[in-house]
Amino acid sequence: METIAQTKATRSEADADTDMSVEAQEFKEVVDKLIPHLGAANMWDYLPVMRWFDVFGVRNKILHAVSRRDAFLRRLIDAERRRLADGGSDGDKKSMIAVLLTLQKTEPKVYTDTMITALCANLFGAGTETTSTTTEWAMSLLLNHPAALKKAQAEIDASVGTSRLVSVDDVPSLAYLQCIVSETLRLYPAAPLLLPHESSADCKVGGYNVPADTMLIVNAYAIHRDPAAWENPLEFRPERFEDGKADGLFMIPFGMGRRRCPGETLALRTISMVLATLVQCFDWEPVDGVKVDMTEGGGFTIPKAVPLEAVCRPRAVMRDVLQNL
Ligand code: HEM
Repeated sequence: METIAQTKATRSEADADTDMSVEAQEFKEVVDKLIPHLGAANMWDYLPVMRWFDVFGVRNKILHAVSRRDAFLRRLIDAERRRLADGGSDGDKKSMIAVLLTLQKTEPKVYTDTMITALCANLFGAGTETTSTTTEWAMSLLLNHPAALKKAQAEIDASVGTSRLVSVDDVPSLAYLQCIVSETLRLYPAAPLLLPHESSADCKVGGYNVPADTMLIVNAYAIHRDPAAWENPLEFRPERFEDGKADGLFMIPFGMGRRRCPGETLALRTISMVLATLVQCFDWEPVDGVKVDMTEGGGFTIPKAVPLEAVCRPRAVMRDVLQNL
């Protein structure tokens, strides 16, 4: 009989203990502490005088999480520096920190440790929660839409086969999988209000006069669910993206213009690869056959109110590949 493994994509620390490296666990804890503060309404915004009194200890909590994050990143940078000094090399596949440390040798005033730490903090902060949340939504949608899950599995079997694991080079030929990712980002854009923008000068947008220093918040979530643009917008229907059918319809999960997300390509590759691997290797079912709860949590990102739990079973056709991992 096949083993039934229970996968819990929960945020609980108990789970983190079981299936993560110490570094991943430390970083996840820091991200979990910081993210809720990012989009939370803050009394300072309305009563600037409150800035002087840290009434709910928010400032302290943020400062504590930030110093833990920076200490963690400095440890990563030091470890990479030691590895490079010991002659460590991964050929062409250098880590981002290794590239920055190499640049530090020629331009030490620009590529200081502080600058490298800040850059890593920015990219890790912007790229981890968004990518993992989108993957969790995509799996939740697939569990509630078994026909789409089967269709994705069939596509991978036809394109990749079952004698090897799907690789990142396969992703461009997995058209339906990419439709699933697009449909997930339409329904659950990880940054539903993008990032706040501010006008640097008086300007006119859509016929409205916008004075300088005005904060502009774009509701991508509402745009993606606008019935004027999308047919049955609340339905999960990856097919709406097939054969370029949704081309020209307005979707901005990564923002637009000069400040558009620079991590888009990496995010799409990562989400597609994780999804493709999960779908190729396992059969999935909701726990006790009960539909996955799709309630949305609040905040700056769009987390699941109830973390995903699902039952997975290694696919018989993938047994040899999985055993040889
Ligand atoms: C599903 C995954 C992701 C989504 C939905 C997403 C979405 C966004 C959005 C909406 C913005 C603001 C754009 C605007 O206001 O016009 C943004 C900015 C940014 N993103 Fe992403 N992102 C994702 C993944 C990543 C990844 C993987 C990285 C890097 C590793 C990254 C790095 C950044 C950075 C550095 C910015 C700020 C850019 C700037 O201010 O100029 N993002 N992202």
